[in-house]
Amino acid sequence: MSLFITFEGPDGSGKSTQIQLLSATLIAAGHDVLTVREPGGTPISEQIRDVVHSLRNREMSDRAECLLYNAARAQLVDQLILPHLQRGGIVLCDRYADSTLAYQGYGRGLELSAVRSVIAFATKHLNPDVTFYLDLAVEEGIERRKRGGGEWNRLDDQALEFHRRVRAGYLQLVREEPGRWVCLEAAREVEAIQADIRAEVEKKLGRAIVK
Ligand code: TYD
Repeated sequence: MSLFITFEGPDGSGKSTQIQLLSATLIAAGHDVLTVREPGGTPISEQIRDVVHSLRNREMSDRAECLLYNAARAQLVDQLILPHLQRGGIVLCDRYADSTLAYQGYGRGLELSAVRSVIAFATKHLNPDVTFYLDLAVEEGIERRKRGGGEWNRLDDQALEFHRRVRAGYLQLVREEPGRWVCLEAAREVEAIQADIRAEVEKKLGRAIVK
């Protein structure tokens, strides 16, 4: 049974840790799992990631930014995600179209209906079966990000107000489509969050992951 699962949330909310744990459990149970991240996941998409995240590209327009994220996404969908789902596999994606709605739509203030059209074109209308939102206070996310010492990109570099709009945007998206979203409090123990995620995935699969 194919399943498309995406993870959303602010920078520093612990998405990648949760994805690694879930992926390991699913693989151990014999599932065919593809794990990818956005922007990136294919050589072309990773090159686009470098352009869109570079701190040198401060003059990038909001529309150009939106289109670049979606160009990277179109390549990832065509090259990896759709083929894997068509083979009956499970795809775990670290960020997907909802990131564009939250960051470029709510954060930058681009017209939401236009952003939705671009996303529909880039994804061939491929929507996730379930989306986990790891919710975290904006200040806490930024603190974690700084402590983590990973890549500090053009988006991280935005003002606090921008990140507040992004979080409010996510919460609005969760309210609009409660059947797809699972909202999780990210300021908890890693294992507690993973247990919630595993329970939801088991519901979707219609059975326990590990018997
Ligand atoms: P990344 O370094 O991958 O880390 P994380 O996912 O943990 O934040 O950062 C991806 C950045 O790109 C993040 O700041 C959100 C941003 N982004 C968008 O603005 N729009 C998008 O469509 C996507 C996929 C990401």
